[in-house]
Parts: sequence; structure tokens; C-alpha cells
Amino acid sequence: MTTDKNKKIALHCQNITKTYGSGASKVQALRGVDLDVYEGELLMLVGPSGCGKTTFVSVVTTLLTFDSGVCDVLGKDLNTLSDAQKVHFRGENIGFVFQSFNLLPSLNAMENVAIPLLIAGVKRETALNKAKEIIDAMGLESKHYSKPNELSGGEQQRVAVARAIVHDPKLIVCDEPTSSLDHESGQMVMKLLKKISEEEHRTLIVVTHDNRIYEYADRMAHMEDGKITRIEENKENKGNE
Ligand SMILES: Nc1ncnc2c1ncn2[C@@H]1O[C@H](COP(=O)(O)OP(=O)(O)OP(=O)(O)O)[C@@H](O)[C@H]1O
Ligand SMILES: [Mg+2]
Repeated sequence: MTTDKNKKIALHCQNITKTYGSGASKVQALRGVDLDVYEGELLMLVGPSGCGKTTFVSVVTTLLTFDSGVCDVLGKDLNTLSDAQKVHFRGENIGFVFQSFNLLPSLNAMENVAIPLLIAGVKRETALNKAKEIIDAMGLESKHYSKPNELSGGEQQRVAVARAIVHDPKLIVCDEPTSSLDHESGQMVMKLLKKISEEEHRTLIVVTHDNRIYEYADRMAHMEDGKITRIEENKENKGNE
């Protein structure tokens, strides 16, 4: 993918700052983040632990407020949305895989994946069927009825990815989606995410330390100490074979 001026921008961030805490315990996690992400691209966000990656993706998914700057997501200026509007916007447009998975322990895999559809008012049977399809695409055919504590870390991670994409969101943000996966499962997840970005023109931001999946990126954004320091096209970009 080229950084063609004609490409539509899905996400526009300008000089975003975010500080946690106050006084002696103050941490400035974002120190002026500038980044544009294009519709239909798969952008990887990389950088050392603590540089602000999770903070940044929490801001763009509207889960965390920021202190200053501009953040336009899918044509909405986040500074103008009320909390209620953010909840609605997020439910409709954003899929998020948390670094810590955040699956609901009392629900089985299928029910966890179906949550975004149920919230959107889809009939239970339809929602569970769609959830089943995506779980199967993740290679978890035998785990439909397993609760999170009956799943391995890698299996929980794939359920979390399935839940992020089940409702066809326009923006999908994954925080370390392959950290607990072996090579084969990691490739399976990335192939599916890449397919969604290419064929359905969804925008993906993938935070990762995992150099085994770098080949799936269209561009790599490097973050250091609360700022994007460098963005590069990925010459080795691997489309779906
Ligand atoms: N809720 C919080 N309260 C206070 N400080 C926080 C909070 N969350 C994160 N931080 C601090 O903000 C900085 C950025 O954290 P963040 O989680 O965004 O880093 P990261 O790049 O995602 O790291 P990792 O690769 O380890 O996941 C760190 O110094 C962290 O300690
Ligand atoms: Mg993080």
C-alpha cells in the first residue's frame, strides 16, 4: 500500500497527549502522537514496553480519554462525543482485542464471541451461529462450549480476536493478538485479519512485539517514549495467498 494522498483516512491523530496520575506519581504516557491510518490498511504499532502503545490504542477506541490534541476516528471528532455517544459509536464501529483478553468467565467461547452481536440486538440464535463460524475459522471447532478457564492462553486469545471481528466493525484494534500463540495459530489469526482488511476493506491497527507476523503489515509505525518516531512502508508485505 502506498501513502497515496487519494486514500481515505480512517484515523487522524494530531498531537495527542495523555498523563496518568498526578504529583509525584505522574506518568506522561503520550507526548504528542501524530498518526494517520488509511481505510483498509493493516498498520502495525511497535515499540518498547511502556512506550505508550496500549494507552494510544485505548484512546483511539474511545476507552480512555486524552488530555489534548485531535483524534478523528471514522469521521468523528472524539472531542465532541459524549460518553453515551462513545459507547454507541464503539459498539457499532470498533472491535478491540485487549492485551489481557478480558473474556467473561461465566460465558462459554461461543457466548463470549457473540456478545457484540447480542448488544447490537441480533437474535440469539443468529448471533451464536455467526460466533460459531468465526470460532471455527480460528481453528477452535471443538471449543464452542468451553469456558475461558477451560481454555489455554492461546485459545482464549483466539476467542478474543473472534469477538473483536464478529460484528464486522470498520476499525479493528488488536493489542498483542499473537503473544500467546504458537507459530501456526499466529499465522492463522494474522491471515484471517489480513483477509478482513483486504477483502472487506476494514482498517486494522495491530500492536505487536512479535516479529514473526511483521510480514502481514502494510505499514509499521514505531513508537518511542510516547511519540510516533518513524513510519515505514513494509516492502515484504504479505497479501493473502
Ligand atoms: N492506569 C495507569 N496508571 C498509571 N500509569 C499507567 C497506567 N497505564 C499505563 N501507565 C504507564 O504509562 C506508560 C505507558 O504504558 P502502556 O501500557 O501504554 O505501554 P505499552 O507500550 O503498551 O507497554 P507494553 O508493551 O508493556 O504493553 C507506562 O509508563 C505505564 O507504566
Ligand atoms: Mg501494552
